[in-house]
Amino acid sequence: MQRIHLHPQGPEFSRFIMGYWRLMEWNLSPNDLLSLIKFHLDLGITTIDHADIYGGYQCEAAFGAALRLEPSLRDRMEVVSKCGIALTAKPQHALNHYITSQAHIIQSAEQSLRNLAVDCLDLLLIHRPDPLMDADEVADAFVRLKEAGKIKHAGVSNFTASQFSLLQSRLPFPLVTNQIEISPLNQDVTLDGTLDQCQQLGLRPMAWSCLGGGRLFSAPEYAPLRQELEAIRGELGAASIEQVVYAWVLMLPSKPLPIIGSGKRERIAAAAKAAHVTLTRQQWFRIRKAALGADVP
Ligand SMILES: NC(=O)c1ccc[n+]([C@@H]2O[C@H](COP(=O)([O-])OP(=O)(O)OC[C@H]3O[C@@H](n4cnc5c(N)ncnc54)[C@H](OP(=O)(O)O)[C@@H]3O)[C@@H](O)[C@H]2O)c1
Repeated sequence: MQRIHLHPQGPEFSRFIMGYWRLMEWNLSPNDLLSLIKFHLDLGITTIDHADIYGGYQCEAAFGAALRLEPSLRDRMEVVSKCGIALTAKPQHALNHYITSQAHIIQSAEQSLRNLAVDCLDLLLIHRPDPLMDADEVADAFVRLKEAGKIKHAGVSNFTASQFSLLQSRLPFPLVTNQIEISPLNQDVTLDGTLDQCQQLGLRPMAWSCLGGGRLFSAPEYAPLRQELEAIRGELGAASIEQVVYAWVLMLPSKPLPIIGSGKRERIAAAAKAAHVTLTRQQWFRIRKAALGADVP
């Protein structure tokens, strides 16, 4: 498994990251989860993506319960979490909304540490841009958490280039990533400046829902895309169309780090092997065209 620096001053992550958003759907006992964690660590997938809200605020604690069974595993992984979304899963939240106040960011990060059973997050992200975000407050929270040794690095998720630049302008250290949705089903970021900014600043985006959250395999409107992916899979001798999609994401020059969303071992192992699948430029554009239903202008 390739290892890659998220930013020249950032952490070194595994090129493929294990996403834990769907953990509660997998119905694993702490021992079963421990076994899954060891499985992907042994494949070299050492970076783990969480958020405070995943599983209605339950995923981090479930992960921590497994990690407490073998705490030494912490030394083999990099742990990412996020904050800034407030869900009605907590009774004090009358509606889903965003909170990026300094106090909330610090409290949420500290709760993530307790839930995950770790002393420090390798990376903390602001989950979504908040229309009420005061960049100075967010920057102050990041600085305090870093000075206290509770986070090693800071970043954002789903930010536009200008939102990213605003927050960066208030920080004495670099934001090391923007975690965004990148897939043939969501190509806007390839041309709207988001990925250009990553290249310009030398930071690597983390890519979520590379398979469209599973819609790629089922939605009727993606039948032409599935057909083209299958044709290219045959041409390349790849094991699955997922590998072809991951290869499409990996080919972007900003060098995204795909986050795997499946809890199934065979799918995790197949994803990790996608790094060996290389598309030609024309195959890349055939996938673009099949997904968008239109040629380049
Ligand atoms: N920052 C953000 O705003 C944000 C948003 C969303 C997600 N994320 C992160 O990104 C990670 C990945 O997102 P994601 O879960 O949406 O990723 P994804 O890989 O696009 O989707 C995963 C889903 O696709 C299904 N799937 C995979 N291969 C399949 C196949 N061959 N046939 C049918 N279904 C298949 C999986 O089911 P099985 O489990 O049955 O394989 C799972 O339900 C999350 O865990 C989270 O860490 C971040």
